[in-house]
Amino acid sequence: MRPWCTDPYADALLAGRGPLFLRRDDGWLLPLEVERWCAHADEADMTVLRRCEGAVIDIGCGPGRLVAAVARQGHPALGVDLSPAAVARTVSAGGTALCRSVFDRLPGEGRWGTALLLDGNIGIGGDPHALLRRVARLVDTGGLLLVEAASADVDERVRVRVDDGRGGLGGSFPWARLGLRALRRHSEATGWRAAREWTAGGRSFLELRRVELPGAAAPHAAVARAQVPGTAAPGAHVPDARVPGARVPRAAVPRGAVPRAGTRHGDGER
Ligand SMILES: C[S@@+](CC[C@H](N)C(=O)[O-])C[C@H]1O[C@@H](n2cnc3c(N)ncnc32)[C@H](O)[C@@H]1O
Repeated sequence: MRPWCTDPYADALLAGRGPLFLRRDDGWLLPLEVERWCAHADEADMTVLRRCEGAVIDIGCGPGRLVAAVARQGHPALGVDLSPAAVARTVSAGGTALCRSVFDRLPGEGRWGTALLLDGNIGIGGDPHALLRRVARLVDTGGLLLVEAASADVDERVRVRVDDGRGGLGGSFPWARLGLRALRRHSEATGWRAAREWTAGGRSFLELRRVELPGAAAPHAAVARAQVPGTAAPGAHVPDARVPGARVPRAAVPRGAVPRAGTRHGDGER
């Protein structure tokens, strides 16, 4: 069973509320903010979303509040999540989402204008370098990655389980937590240049720009198009392997030249 595909997470998304935690092997509990994830995007989220440029891919989109909000702003937007329950909620909220891992093949590789890793999602896979390198292959040259950091000054790799606090426990999987300092350090080693950082609603965010790593082959739009089923023909759809009936509208996949919107800034910018 893949992580996050177990009952405690699906049940919480279905109910729209916790309690829900990530439980470390030593018993330490990280509360998961299911109610906030299942609500509309809040003002802190909007400080991130106003910076989005071009087509937006939300990695680990959960129930899809960010996908829905950024689409309302007029950006082509796609959520990607391992959890069928999360993808179903995103789609029922009117968003577009694929039930896949960020490490699987995705539409529009190398052409996204902005990638999002919010709500602790820098922890996905438990190896921030691997994740940051993967996301660098998803966005366009000069594209944006908007990341949320842990509020504590941490740099940790752990094994966790999803725990509902009432005996419901998922399988163990690797996770990571990075504060701002560690996030800057890891991103600069993996094809990103740290730009602005800011805080809003007690949360910390960092804006990263993709740069070329010496010796790294740049992703090429034509190659990406040829590899992604359904993206070659205008108006085609990308079928999703895991959610029957879920399809990605052509409009949610970035085309070669994605126009960039202007950026606006939120509170607490440094
Ligand atoms: C901490 S939650 C974040 C929730 C989300 N940002 C929201 O708005 O509700 C992590 C999310 O990432 C998803 N996830 C975990 N590993 C993933 C992977 N390898 N690829 C894509 N999504 C993943 C989980 O299913 C879960 O929905």
